[in-house]
Amino acid sequence: MIDTLPIHTQVTTASRLTELDPAHIEFGKIFSDHMLVVDYHDGAWQEPHLVPYGDMAVSPANSALHYGQAIFEGLKAYHQADGGVALFRPLDNFHRLNASAARMCMPPLPEELFMQGLKELIKLDAAWVPDAPGAALYVRPFMFATDGFIGVRPSDSYRFVIFTCPVGVYYTKPLRVRFEQQFVRSAEGGAGYAKAAGNYGGAMYPSKLAQEEGYHQLLWTDASAHQYVEESGTMNVVFVIDGCLITPALSTSILDGVTRRSVLQLARDWDIPVEERRISSLEVVAALQAGTLQEAFGVGTAATIATIATIGHMGHDYDLPTPAADALSRRISAALEAIRTGTGEDAHRWMVPV
Ligand code: COI
Repeated sequence: MIDTLPIHTQVTTASRLTELDPAHIEFGKIFSDHMLVVDYHDGAWQEPHLVPYGDMAVSPANSALHYGQAIFEGLKAYHQADGGVALFRPLDNFHRLNASAARMCMPPLPEELFMQGLKELIKLDAAWVPDAPGAALYVRPFMFATDGFIGVRPSDSYRFVIFTCPVGVYYTKPLRVRFEQQFVRSAEGGAGYAKAAGNYGGAMYPSKLAQEEGYHQLLWTDASAHQYVEESGTMNVVFVIDGCLITPALSTSILDGVTRRSVLQLARDWDIPVEERRISSLEVVAALQAGTLQEAFGVGTAATIATIATIGHMGHDYDLPTPAADALSRRISAALEAIRTGTGEDAHRWMVPV
């Protein structure tokens, strides 16, 4: 039952809040004062602790470090127009965390432990929730193996942690992306749908190559034909062709993004045609050449709605028109921001007050 779980709390005696400069928040560099820590051993989750944010001692032989038995989530808490703080769709992240845990042979987390631990943490560090436009408190839950054992088998013990960081926008400029048709992020049947640490580590090298060529991110394509769009770096991706919102259908190689889901819901609420299906690089390029590709944007928790300005394909860069004030991406972005900050109607009850 929510509100009955005892959470041992050790409040910091050295808050770092005064070091926060709300006008210059860089993504992921500043961490709030506290974190939630819960260990799993002997077949059960142990008592949760709220402790000052800081380094942790772990066995150097744990299988998170050696074999990547580690998963994470990303969600955000927003300052509300009425002065409170609310989380955007936290249960969606909770369910995806447990789906990732199942894929990586890790124990599921009980809902009340996740939700109560999360809310208590946010309440304790409520002063860290920024209220500048576009800013939020980014919440990073994660779980990793802790057995001191280097045999290759699922660990018997784990640690679940949540820390938070005040963040501004992840991408500060419209993005230059290019199709990746050689390297692969994930294959059908792999762990691409899970938010597993290794998916991100494996993507760094191809992304670095693209960055050296002047792109911000890759548009990953499927592992067999190297044609069908999957996702883009840290986000799902959406194309608007002839007024229709098109996004790759979910599969075992694509992350089931919470922002993706929300964007599709808003478009359907507004009677905009939505297609979740395969979309190839050739279809995107044909639409670019015909001038029917009106918009392309990334959608993600950290990225929010990230406009794509340029798409590279086979050495050629195609520029997209700058989205007009009434462009779909702008309308969606404004509607999401209104819901998240409590200034717009939350018809789907996505916000959960803390
Ligand atoms: C998020 O959007 O929350 C993500 O997990 C992307 C991230 C790796 C920065």
